[in-house]
Amino acid sequence: MKPAPFAHVRPATVAEVVEALAAGADLDGGAKMLAGGQSLVPLLAMRLAAPSLLVDLNALPSLRGVAADGPDAVRIGALTRHADLLVQPYSVSGADLVAPGATGGALRNENGLTGPGAGAGDMPLLAEAARWIGHTAIRARGTFGGSLAHADPNAEWPAVALACDAELAVAGPSAERTVTAHRFFHGLLQTDLADDELLTSVRLARPRAWAFTELARRHGDFALVLCVVTELDAGWRVVLGGVAGTPVRCPSAEALLDAGERHPAAIAAAVAAAPEAEAFSDLHASAAYRRAMAAELAARALRDLRPGPGAAPVLGTEHVSSAALDPQNRAVTPPSPSASPERAGTLAVTLNVNGRHRAAACEPRHTLADVLREQLGLTGTHLGCEQGVCGACTVLIDGEPVRSCLTFAVQAEGAAITTIEGLAGPDGALHPVQDAFSRCHGLQCGYCTPGFVLTAVHLLATEPAPTRPVIREALSGNLCRCTGYTGIVDAVESAAGSMGGGGAG
Ligand SMILES: Cc1cc2nc3c(=O)[nH]c(=O)nc-3n(C[C@H](O)[C@H](O)[C@H](O)COP(=O)(O)OP(=O)(O)OC[C@H]3O[C@@H](n4cnc5c(N)ncnc54)[C@H](O)[C@@H]3O)c2cc1C
Ligand code: FES
Ligand code: FES
Repeated sequence: MKPAPFAHVRPATVAEVVEALAAGADLDGGAKMLAGGQSLVPLLAMRLAAPSLLVDLNALPSLRGVAADGPDAVRIGALTRHADLLVQPYSVSGADLVAPGATGGALRNENGLTGPGAGAGDMPLLAEAARWIGHTAIRARGTFGGSLAHADPNAEWPAVALACDAELAVAGPSAERTVTAHRFFHGLLQTDLADDELLTSVRLARPRAWAFTELARRHGDFALVLCVVTELDAGWRVVLGGVAGTPVRCPSAEALLDAGERHPAAIAAAVAAAPEAEAFSDLHASAAYRRAMAAELAARALRDLRPGPGAAPVLGTEHVSSAALDPQNRAVTPPSPSASPERAGTLAVTLNVNGRHRAAACEPRHTLADVLREQLGLTGTHLGCEQGVCGACTVLIDGEPVRSCLTFAVQAEGAAITTIEGLAGPDGALHPVQDAFSRCHGLQCGYCTPGFVLTAVHLLATEPAPTRPVIREALSGNLCRCTGYTGIVDAVESAAGSMGGGGAG
């Protein structure tokens, strides 16, 4: 299915977002905000949501970034991508985070120039949690604020927010307000946000000690159960995700820790007996299994406790995105899309695809994948699930792998798009990754191949000599129905060698 028609507007300021939401409220289907689109676009495609107006937040660079907020807290802009938080010190720059209340005024992150404690915002817990979220292409687009606003109880950020006594800054038609994480999550996909309010930034206390443990069926899946343990100035927090409609704290386990108990078995027993761990059953796991896993994850968290700031983060595969690197390998600011007025109906758009400007006519609801295939004849971009899961539609936008089924064509204007057709040289010579797929039997029917190849091209741009486990993790967001995974991993390893990186075993 495809999304129902909607008008699209890309405001440049928070005030304009609030105005657009107010105007959209009078329309039949109302207005909805679009951040990374990694949860919303599948809902639109399945017509579980059918807003009349989509208010695109992606032209608000002021909401993207991380800054120290006093000595013991960090403030994260709502538009900060999951991938931004994998890298510490943070490479997201140019953000003027709105810091309401006590701190007042604008903060800049450490690549900015000013702000209290700028540069001291590292928080390894964030890097560890981020690497559990989806896959490279999901982390490149999905946002911190979008995840909190979506409030999936199996997601990582809501549990981290609760474990760090988060305070969420919310802007709306009346004065800005701050909501604690404890009050923010109301239930499954339900929050304290009104339809005309947006989340702008979030303040998290920096833990003195922390641990993050998760059980998922496959790397990159939502958690079946997860446990975050933190020691804050205000005391210990033991938070479970995936057991109820919201993340939940376990006060009995926290009381034991506050009293000095550190034995993993004692904390596990407290979690197992806690009413908060009264889990639900679904097709993935029974309540009894979830409860048992919650106790086990709490025990592991206790064994795995790490000191707070200063400890080396556990990094995922994308240490820093290729789009965020200049030739000297220094972090630079990724380009931000520009604001646009409200647009509806059939529009003329110009896309920069494989180095050429291509004109197309499309509606705001048309995905980049559909426009590439149906209007520009670039049928190498394949469609499988149209929900962001299979990776067949992966293209590169400004060097980042992106699901083109979850990106609207109007969002891609002004960006550099690379499809599989753009990889070969002008003389038709295959790209080394394509050549390796051919040599190493990395394809059978070939349906998944363009997505795998582009994901691998990004991996080798960021990590020239990946190990086989790193290759497997990087490709875990791409599915091959012919199950030719061994040949695919062989191909990427071989391409790394022929491109000068060399296989790392
Ligand atoms: C294949 C796949 C795997 C995934 N795996 C995981 C996973 O393992 N863990 C995980 O946590 N997530 C996972 N996700 C979801 C991903 O993290 C999303 O990025 C996230 O849930 C929503 O963030 P977004 O920026 O994409 O928001 P969007 O999809 O753009 O928006 C989601 C909702 O939040 C609202 N919203 C967005 N921003 C704001 C704001 N600033 N203020 C108010 N409302 C706002 C939107 O209106 C919408 O209702 C996965 C997604 C996919 C497709
Ligand atoms: S991820 Fe886009 S079609 Fe499957
Ligand atoms: S080669 Fe057939 S789907 Fe992967």
